[in-house]
Amino acid sequence: MKSYERHTLDVKTDLSVKYRVDFPVFEHVTYLNSCSQGAIAKSVRQSFTTYLNSLELHGSTWGDWAGQQEKVRALLAKLFNVTPGEMAVTTSTSAAVSSLASALDFSSKRNRIVTTDNEFPAIGQIWHAQERRGARVTHVPSRSDNTVDVEKLIREINEETLLVSITLVCFRNGALTDIAPIIEAAKKAGALVLLDSYQGAGAMNLDLSKIGADFVVGGVLKYMLGAPGVGYMYTKAETTKNLIPSSTGWFAAKDIFKMGIHEYDPAIDARRFESGTPPIPSLYPAVAGLEYLLAVGMDEIVDYVSHLHDALRTGIEEIGGSIATPAHAHAAMLAVRSTDENALVAALETEKIITSCRDGNLRISPHFYNNMEDIDRTVTALAKHKALLKTS
Ligand SMILES: Cc1ncc(COP(=O)(O)O)c(C=O)c1O
Repeated sequence: MKSYERHTLDVKTDLSVKYRVDFPVFEHVTYLNSCSQGAIAKSVRQSFTTYLNSLELHGSTWGDWAGQQEKVRALLAKLFNVTPGEMAVTTSTSAAVSSLASALDFSSKRNRIVTTDNEFPAIGQIWHAQERRGARVTHVPSRSDNTVDVEKLIREINEETLLVSITLVCFRNGALTDIAPIIEAAKKAGALVLLDSYQGAGAMNLDLSKIGADFVVGGVLKYMLGAPGVGYMYTKAETTKNLIPSSTGWFAAKDIFKMGIHEYDPAIDARRFESGTPPIPSLYPAVAGLEYLLAVGMDEIVDYVSHLHDALRTGIEEIGGSIATPAHAHAAMLAVRSTDENALVAALETEKIITSCRDGNLRISPHFYNNMEDIDRTVTALAKHKALLKTS
């Protein structure tokens, strides 16, 4: 085994020099689990207090609360380069996709959902739940390099396809999907496209005005630095006007304060996919997290994190580890094959290195607050626990 060669970074490009001080978790542990939950910024912590203070000072502050929801909507729209009216703010990805599913009609011949084997359980389960309503669901197996088999998937799309449901980055192995040819084929066949962006958003620069998907879902608690309780769905305006969800709530109505009970008049825009009282305590950290992310800048983050990802990959390969994430198709997360992934996560935790695992893989997910020392420490710890690595 070659000894691991340490990597350095030009200080100009090292975002952690400026920003790490705002993330106190690094005083305690080496945090590399942003694919599960982003590290908490001081401003995000403060936002929870702001919410509690507002309750103590004013009792109830409905005006401020509605304002927080609109701030989240506007910040998401800015991040994704779309209009606020195209963003639904939901309580989870699952809630957004369930609302979308309730708006789809599976009674005609065009009732097939074509999806992949790289989806998150929520997505697969929601589509299979629609089988009771007439949906037919086809999964396309992934390639041996863990990426979605684009050619096979395109061959499955035809005039019976209602929706193509794809993930951007696989939560299990970090494989990035080549979405452009899939979206093009779906459009040609007259099918809708749903993209699950959860493992990419906040770690990749996503211009939703250009990619052509009808719906893009995710949540703010991972690379977007927010808290559990806030999801989102981008909905293309032309598509939205033809879809009326039956899974709904009063915050999805055109005029929330009309308080009508004798009719249903949904909002004309993405808000029609929302539901009841917004997740107020989670909106405050969502605003703070998104503001922080936008201030750092997505281009800067993508460039910087790609250095960390590459150094991590090189280091793990140098110690003989086997990497599940394809080198030619990835975002921030790197998945490492393990003989016992839960034991490996626990072993790293004893070294104060926080990671997570799924399906035979250790997941290491750097963000802009990580640095080369974190990478070196992790590779050194993996070398120490090499018995838990599958070797290449
Ligand atoms: C890729 C992906 N999609 C969907 C989800 C589920 O999101 P939610 O719990 O907001 O429904 C996750 C959660 O980790 C995820 O990683």
